[in-house]
Amino acid sequence: MPDLSKITCIEDLRVIAKRRVPRMFYDYADSGAWTEGTYRDNENAFQKIKLRQRVAVNMEGRSTRTTMIGQDVAMPVAIAPTGLTGMQHADGEIHGARAAKAFGIPFTLSTMSICSLEDIAEATGRHPFWFQLYVMRDRDFMERLIDRAKAANCSALQLTLDLQVLGQRHKDIKNGLSTPPKPTIANLINLATKPRWCLGMLGTQRRSFGNIVGHAKNVSDVSSLSTWTAEQFDPSLNWGDIEWIKRRWGGKLVLKGIMDAEDARLAVDSGADALIVSNHGGRQLDGAPASIDALPAIADAAGDRIEVWMDGGIRSGQDVLKARALGARGTLIGRSFLYALGAFGEAGVTRALQIIHKELDVTMAFCGRTQIDTVDSSILLPGTF
Ligand SMILES: Cc1cc2nc3c(=O)[nH]c(=O)nc-3n(C[C@H](O)[C@H](O)[C@H](O)COP(=O)(O)O)c2cc1C
Repeated sequence: MPDLSKITCIEDLRVIAKRRVPRMFYDYADSGAWTEGTYRDNENAFQKIKLRQRVAVNMEGRSTRTTMIGQDVAMPVAIAPTGLTGMQHADGEIHGARAAKAFGIPFTLSTMSICSLEDIAEATGRHPFWFQLYVMRDRDFMERLIDRAKAANCSALQLTLDLQVLGQRHKDIKNGLSTPPKPTIANLINLATKPRWCLGMLGTQRRSFGNIVGHAKNVSDVSSLSTWTAEQFDPSLNWGDIEWIKRRWGGKLVLKGIMDAEDARLAVDSGADALIVSNHGGRQLDGAPASIDALPAIADAAGDRIEVWMDGGIRSGQDVLKARALGARGTLIGRSFLYALGAFGEAGVTRALQIIHKELDVTMAFCGRTQIDTVDSSILLPGTF
């Protein structure tokens, strides 16, 4: 186990991940669509929201424990679904799922993961986790994927609604990030400077999309996969599809990618259990508002008929507290998780969760609250949100 006591914030983990992860995959995580304006806003928008410091309040017996869709969580934070996670670190999804299980928070596996649903179930002793689903044209494949998620003991399905068309990330094109990645001279030279990562990859068989290769029609290897994915994301997705997915799944359903109050009302009508205010970490619509800025109006529209969660730009426990104050019962972390994973694998993810938890707990105390469930907008300075 590496000594991570000097790692004190998520930024420390980002800096180390940048050093250790091949540029093509680091850039894939640390980038947003087009000008990256929305990507940057997601982080920056938290800074203008100010907290009210309270003193001489008994701060003993604090707890960040709460629930998300009825499931106990050690703090209102879950790991967000991220594609290609097993390329930040060998067997990355397994490392993430194990760290989340030990900490007592939910882990979400992406459709586009490297480790498969079955890999995660096996590596965690069939501990429940969440699965994120993209709507694909091949409905037979989707149905089988839903059935596999059930068999793997998944306890919630996150349906991502904001990827009918793809935002463009300049860096991915310039780096030749495709399936399979292009072995350009620049990429090979860069790989040679990442011996730790290369060694990890040599030690695992999991180097392709585990949920797809060997399961979807006409996809038997990585090279046939790129054609398949390009054709599969379904631009015709609409609210009618949600009904049959809900029926087929039959369990807790979470709708991911809601950025508008009108869509929040439709999400309520759909009968889903939770919605996630999310702009896909600034990777889709460049020009969309920061998630934290979109949150209050959506929480208002949703009322208490559906749980409202948010993601985008969360890099600290202070951010989690502000999201909670503005109406998010739960939050999800994408890049904070990926940087930690790229830097130190499972130990890094555990460290990131410890850091966020401590920041959340102490900041809550500074605001004069001892229980996360009592946090509301009265902990925020009027005029700053
Ligand atoms: C590298 C990367 C890959 C992602 N892949 C997926 C995915 O496969 N499915 C999905 O629903 N969201 C995906 N997302 C979006 C995340 O689930 C989440 O909405 C976002 O990362 C939150 O913002 P944050 O990274 O600032 O925390 C991805 C995000 C990143 C950074």
